[in-house]
Amino acid sequence: MGITHIRLPKNFDLDERLERYAGAIERDAGAYKGRWAEACCPLAVDGGGALRRYGSVHLDLGCGKGAFVVACAERDPEGLYIGMDAEPVCIAYAAQTVAERDLPNAVIVPLGADALARVFAEGELAGITLNFPTPHPKRHHARKRLVHVDRLLAYRPLLAPGATVTLRTDSQPLWEYAKGQFDAAGYRALWTSADVGREHPGFPETEYERRLTARGAAVYGICAALAPAPSPDRVQAGRDAEQSLMAYLPDDLFSLDYVPLGMEAAVENFRNRERKGKARIPGAAG
Ligand SMILES: C[S@@+](CC[C@H](N)C(=O)[O-])C[C@H]1O[C@@H](n2cnc3c(N)ncnc32)[C@H](O)[C@@H]1O
Repeated sequence: MGITHIRLPKNFDLDERLERYAGAIERDAGAYKGRWAEACCPLAVDGGGALRRYGSVHLDLGCGKGAFVVACAERDPEGLYIGMDAEPVCIAYAAQTVAERDLPNAVIVPLGADALARVFAEGELAGITLNFPTPHPKRHHARKRLVHVDRLLAYRPLLAPGATVTLRTDSQPLWEYAKGQFDAAGYRALWTSADVGREHPGFPETEYERRLTARGAAVYGICAALAPAPSPDRVQAGRDAEQSLMAYLPDDLFSLDYVPLGMEAAVENFRNRERKGKARIPGAAG
């Protein structure tokens, strides 16, 4: 979500914070394209005089306040973990999280998903994580979703052999939608889960995950790897698929214990219409 969902402390000075934690922010990310693994490695040579590099480079796209990136970096000192986010307030928080742990193998890049091809070279990424991405439920915002078929296509060339793209979300509608988009973009699901915490434990908790599971959210997920490039018809089928997340809501809205982030108003509106015996969408057959 954007800045409106972050409660800022009193006297929060964005510029001052960005300046204070600038050491954890890479503003010239394009200069590292194709050489992140070597260029970010603090010890240029190992004991035997060989050039040292990180064994793998991972991207957390839409990293928010950075808890996930930092936990992954702490857990895997041989990997480089890059958090990318388009929102300056998130960048300030994420950079603070990295700086306070003094981690050499975590870095924050203040750019949005549109910049990926400028920042990463072919085959450079061992994994992309999309943790609780902004759902953009409305049809006309679908192209902004980080799991839209065209975004998933754009990730393809950046992925190393064996790399994965992993989505985790509180939103069953986004998850259902995303399954079709991954397929249309030529990915093979290694797993899909309606209860990631139980079936695939071990993911570090993110800030949104903590907030949303406390409200009763389940965590839905998909982990996918590259399959052969899709045909143009298959890609088009992904673009032509239903793009409103409202359409992926269950029929019985009153059975929903938890309403996904960003869909609260729409679900309330649909429930009210149903109470009055009206069709969900005005004009549609009831
Ligand atoms: C709901 S928050 C989740 C943050 C974090 N991953 C977590 O789980 O706590 C979504 C994040 O994605 C970022 N975001 C949205 N669209 C983006 C884009 N096109 N490129 C990069 N970041 C984006 C937002 O600024 C926000 O920080």
